[in-house]
Amino acid sequence: MTHRINSFDEYKEQYEKSVTNPESFWAEVAETFSWYKKWDQVLEWDFRKPAVKWFKNAKLNITENCLDRHLETRPDQTAIIFEPNDPEAPVQKFTYRELHLAVCRAANALKANGIKKGDRVCFYMPMVPELAIGVLACARIGAVHSVVFAGFSAQALADRIKDASCKMVICSDFNNRGAKHIPVKNVVDDALKMDCDSIETVLVHRNTGDGIEWTEGRDKWWHEEVDPQSGDCPAEVMDAEDMLFILYTSGSTGKPKGVVHTCGGYMVYTTYSFKNVFQYREGDVYWCTADIGWITGHSYIVYGPLAAGATTVMFEGVPTYPHAGRFWEVVEKHKVNQFYTAPTAIRALMAFGDEPVKKYDLTSLRILGSVGEPINEEAWNWYHETVGNKGCPIVDTWWQTETGGIMISGLGGLSPMKPAHAGYPLPGVQLCLVDNEGVEIEGNDVEGLLCVKFPWPSILRTTYGDHERCRTTYFAMFEDKYFTGDGARRDENGMYRIIGRVDDVLNVSGHRMGTAEVENAINEHPKVVESAVVGYPHDIKGQGIYAYVITTEEVSDEDAFAKEVRDVVTREIGPIAKPDRIQVVSGLPKTRSGKIMRRILRKVASGDTSNLGDTSTLLNPEIVEEIKSGAKQ
Ligand code: PRX
Repeated sequence: MTHRINSFDEYKEQYEKSVTNPESFWAEVAETFSWYKKWDQVLEWDFRKPAVKWFKNAKLNITENCLDRHLETRPDQTAIIFEPNDPEAPVQKFTYRELHLAVCRAANALKANGIKKGDRVCFYMPMVPELAIGVLACARIGAVHSVVFAGFSAQALADRIKDASCKMVICSDFNNRGAKHIPVKNVVDDALKMDCDSIETVLVHRNTGDGIEWTEGRDKWWHEEVDPQSGDCPAEVMDAEDMLFILYTSGSTGKPKGVVHTCGGYMVYTTYSFKNVFQYREGDVYWCTADIGWITGHSYIVYGPLAAGATTVMFEGVPTYPHAGRFWEVVEKHKVNQFYTAPTAIRALMAFGDEPVKKYDLTSLRILGSVGEPINEEAWNWYHETVGNKGCPIVDTWWQTETGGIMISGLGGLSPMKPAHAGYPLPGVQLCLVDNEGVEIEGNDVEGLLCVKFPWPSILRTTYGDHERCRTTYFAMFEDKYFTGDGARRDENGMYRIIGRVDDVLNVSGHRMGTAEVENAINEHPKVVESAVVGYPHDIKGQGIYAYVITTEEVSDEDAFAKEVRDVVTREIGPIAKPDRIQVVSGLPKTRSGKIMRRILRKVASGDTSNLGDTSTLLNPEIVEEIKSGAKQ
């Protein structure tokens, strides 16, 4: 595979080239893929609309690139290693030839069930091979996948199904996750009772074999539909700008939005970034512990690694089951070379000390990756020293659902490293920091709002069904710039350090959540009049959720009430959004225009009440004392 950068000097050269002549830079990278027809123009863009087209009029199918072209060069190489939740259960391996066959069969089953190019298919599944196979089967026939993380509630699933008018849901019967046994199909049944009229078929993968309810005519078994199919399924010819998938993510306002990625640019960028950030070499075994329900799983378990011809590990379980050394046991077992996980997992495992790590032979590890939230120095050092034995470079990769691929990161082993700093932008990524007025802040040793001023190939194209929302959220804040929602620092050497969100978006264990979304869920409790949610520093999760709640009547048993509130949030969104701390208050600090002053709420939640700033402009300054004295720690 070409286009792997081999030194930091080469990175600088490539970066320079990508900025001075982006079109020829990306055309050269794109040349290494298979296309049915090449582009007429590399890039056409206008951030004001926004309208971005990469590889205009080019034709391709991403699965030709992830599968077919490897059949000539590496048919018997392992494409996917599946490590099940139960360490005693058999590992499954798919060579590229086997994966190709499985995807073609599944694609034919989708077609036989009326799915065609452009139709939306929702996935609500555990991390089993059928999820990757199903997603690729959609891409094979040009259907658009919308994977919903299987920890979301029936309500959240129904919202997403309706927003994209999905025609089919693919799920499992049950899901094994650690010691939990989760009735996944049951959640789908509940969701489909909520006016999901567009759904015609539910395709059920038999995962555990436990009994489930069955709706005749609508529900079908995956194995009955897929197994008899032919293994020959010609790939649909897709335009580079045809939709590949929708993935829902939270913003500061309203319901989660469906971020749309398209075929050509996404393929080129995820593959290029995968090879360079992880310095992937032929024969390496790469493991990303994310769930395919999030963008990290889409780009760096499925598409990037497979297009690069890599061996990618899929793990069904959780880091601490059946013991706190599970990750390291798996690394030893499969001789993993690149390991990519989230700071929250690192912090959780760090709490168990070094012993569970030291038990295993981790000498195969070459590169360690981090993603999802800022990694604090203590966790960085532990990762580096204990897991990496000081010999593995850490790549702290900053990116977003909307960016499709890694934007800021070291290139494993080539770039300078600094704890808690994501580092330098990847080739093709033109960053800038701006002040609140959108004026660019030049030079180094500065801080500001992180924007991108030029398109990269895997930038989001729209938010599904609501292009205006895409424009106002990302492109209207500052003229001609994509606004990330993050604040960042550029140090004296030009390395970036991500400070965190500057909007009302929380990052809980690396999962994005809008405060408004959680508040709306809490407000569904019949006794809740109003609520306000803020984040506060949490040792393991990065951020915890602190909810201030006004009730219709006095609450006599606060613990019981808190449980009820958590249950409501679990029902509306899912357990990941449950508030850690709930404080009943008689009012919320509001400005004269009625806006909640979150600054004060954040300070109280984080236990920092020494300087709350000027509260005299509040409509109800007296409330601050009450909130302070009742703060939950
Ligand atoms: O705040 C940043 C944080 O996660 C946000 C994006 O979340 P999501 O779309 O769910 O994607 C997560 C996985 C790519 C960003 O706006 N974030 C992500 N990676 C990092 C990070 N913050 C600091 N350092 C990172 N490496």
